[in-house]
Amino acid sequence: RVVPPQCLVIFGASGDLTHRKLVPALFELFKQRRLPSEFAILGCARRPWTDEIFKEKMEEALSSQIKESPKEWELFSQNLFYEPVDLQQPEHLVKLGERLEIIDKLKATHGHRTFYLSVSPKFYGSGCRALAAAGLLKDPKRSRVVIEKPFGRDFNSAQSLNSLVQGCAQESQIFRIDHYLGKETVQNILVLRFANTIFEPIWNRNYISSVQITSSETVGVEDRAGYYESSGALRDMVQNHLTQMLALTAMEPPGHFDPEAIRNEKAKVLQAVKLANEEKPWECCVRGQYSKGGSDEEPLLGYRDEPGVDPNSTTETYVAMKLFIDNWRWQGVPFYVRTGKRLAKRLSEVVLTFREAPVHLFDAAGGCPTSNQLILRIQPNEGAEFSFEVKSPGSGMRSRPVNMEFSYDESFGEPSDEGYVRLLADAMLGDPTLFTRSDEVEAAWRLYTPLLEKIEDSPWELPIYPYESRTWGPTESDLLIGKDQLLWRRP
Ligand code: BG6
Repeated sequence: RVVPPQCLVIFGASGDLTHRKLVPALFELFKQRRLPSEFAILGCARRPWTDEIFKEKMEEALSSQIKESPKEWELFSQNLFYEPVDLQQPEHLVKLGERLEIIDKLKATHGHRTFYLSVSPKFYGSGCRALAAAGLLKDPKRSRVVIEKPFGRDFNSAQSLNSLVQGCAQESQIFRIDHYLGKETVQNILVLRFANTIFEPIWNRNYISSVQITSSETVGVEDRAGYYESSGALRDMVQNHLTQMLALTAMEPPGHFDPEAIRNEKAKVLQAVKLANEEKPWECCVRGQYSKGGSDEEPLLGYRDEPGVDPNSTTETYVAMKLFIDNWRWQGVPFYVRTGKRLAKRLSEVVLTFREAPVHLFDAAGGCPTSNQLILRIQPNEGAEFSFEVKSPGSGMRSRPVNMEFSYDESFGEPSDEGYVRLLADAMLGDPTLFTRSDEVEAAWRLYTPLLEKIEDSPWELPIYPYESRTWGPTESDLLIGKDQLLWRRP
């Protein structure tokens, strides 16, 4: 779908996200001919850059892509503009309004604008207020705001931010980004479940005994200590990305494929999610922090030795927890979620484990028969895998597990677009399906806020367990799932 004529205004245009994700995604859309000729990108930040400087910076950011498509860059760069703006200065907003009118005339964008707040989260609320006060959000059909994560730090702050932004714009104008929803394979959870008839009848407590949702990273905190120290894995990954994967896995089928029907179902299931033991959260949640590791050739620093990190930091870089969903479909089925930095492998996946056969008629090759598993591989090697038992060749009747595989690469060849390509296009098209609605965000924060408070008020109850870099996290997390006679999957 081609984006309609408009000006995309990026606040935080000198920042990392703009360089690493947003402008590369826009260049990709341009190369795919999905941006119209009536299109402009107006970068805004406090730095006193000019249009030319902004173009140079973006050229640097896109250098490898430009080598392959120099002509496209020539054309694309004609749509780049820059305006120095401090969102806290009302007179800057007046100047911004004037600049937008000039761009409207130049590029025939007719007042259609998407404002992308890629700024520090503390400016999300005041940024929206400044835009509204300058009259830039008053037309709900022609103006939208995209807000990056994290949307709040806990339930109360998310609720206040929601009421603040909803006081500035209608909910239909607000696009809260969770880049996991832009991933092809995350969207595939919906297609797999609701475009096939074989899965839905068994997608419930009668057939599924447990679910594991993992997002593991090999990278450490990199240069983001300033942000990460006050966030930690629970806020950075679980409240948003993992919880969104859980919602898509567990939600009821929507009546239609329209944004509100889908978001209604996601919000509904999120309201039913509970910590497995709310009174004793330490029984269902393990926090960890990476210590040094790696090899002689590639030694890796421990988290507390990373630049910008407090040497006594108690910020978790790993978290594992057990959740239940209090509804008809999932009653009693444990959902285990885990995420961490500096783990053994980079992977994101959802694993559904099916109940054991009621009677074991055959000897199993490994001593005990494995349960069937459906694995939805979000990244890397995007695809799905189903494991089941077959007869081991030869005499006798022994069973052993085998895999049936689907790989995006093999079936479709070309790699799928980066999440931001899809999400930027959708925001500019005005399609909110893959963006989180206010009630979903609040439901997710409502779920984790008591835990976050407990960590803050009595940290000794939820201590930080160290784990060596490039391993699978603290052994305490194996005990968490081991108590239920289960193991984490370690592909
Ligand atoms: C971001 C987190 O939202 O997601 C990062 O802030 C994390 O800490 C990143 O590294 C992971 O995203 P992906 O797409 O690489 O799995």
